[in-house]
Amino acid sequence: MNSIHHISNNTHSTAENNIAIFNAVVKKYNMDGYQFTAIKNAKCTIQKGEITFVYGPSGSGKSTFLNILGMLDKPDEGQITILGQDVLSMNDNQAADFRAQHIGFIFQSFNLIPVLSVRENVEFPLLHHNISRHERRKKAEYYLESVGLKDYINRRLSEISGGQRQRVAIARALVTTPALVIADEPTANLDSSTSNEIIHLMLEMRRQFDTSFVICTHNENLLNKSGQLIHIVDGKLKDAGDSQ
Ligand SMILES: Nc1ncnc2c1ncn2[C@@H]1O[C@H](COP(=O)(O)OP(=O)(O)OP(=O)(O)O)[C@@H](O)[C@H]1O
Ligand SMILES: [Mg+2]
Repeated sequence: MNSIHHISNNTHSTAENNIAIFNAVVKKYNMDGYQFTAIKNAKCTIQKGEITFVYGPSGSGKSTFLNILGMLDKPDEGQITILGQDVLSMNDNQAADFRAQHIGFIFQSFNLIPVLSVRENVEFPLLHHNISRHERRKKAEYYLESVGLKDYINRRLSEISGGQRQRVAIARALVTTPALVIADEPTANLDSSTSNEIIHLMLEMRRQFDTSFVICTHNENLLNKSGQLIHIVDGKLKDAGDSQ
């Protein structure tokens, strides 16, 4: 823990405007008898406080890219720097601590816990942080209010709608105030007005908390929002620059 905290205090000198840098990153999957290269020599810089949209055809490598960025999976080659840290040199415990401290996830299968209340779901990631029960509760309520769920905090997860669950997932991803939030198809299975609300909410969160978002989507409407675009085709990253 200490070494991670110590190192992360030094990030500003090395990564002022960047949240993450990929250099020559390669990811291969082993399939019976042969290797499939899902990410090919990826180079990119993800800017701090930006919303970066990752888009491309189905099977092009978007989720693989997000999993690697979120340190859920390791590449076979290359270097990755997140918040100025060489994350591939960390051992598993260091990587898990770093992830819990700095990265929030909004994934398609929400990973929420149905038997817990809305508030308990949002408090959950704070159990890894050294704060009091009272403080956990206050933080969870604050973020739930920010996502418009003030009146639902004591409901069980099974008693709210899909769009509301997605908001719970967003509150949970933000409650630890991570520097980076990674969202894989955050609006999949939502109707267009709910998905627009969710996107506006993330834009608002970014304004309020200077959070960097990396969002993978098929949704063409989202790509019209200003931000960085990363186009992935057949495992190759084409950094499309800014969309504005
Ligand atoms: N665990 C795995 N083992 C083997 N191959 C995999 C594995 N996960 C993904 N792949 C393959 O790697 C490629 C990239 O998959 P990935 O899930 O990253 O695509 P994607 O762009 O997220 O697609 P979608 O838009 O459908 O979610 C695909 O060809 C996929 O079949
Ligand atoms: Mg995917």
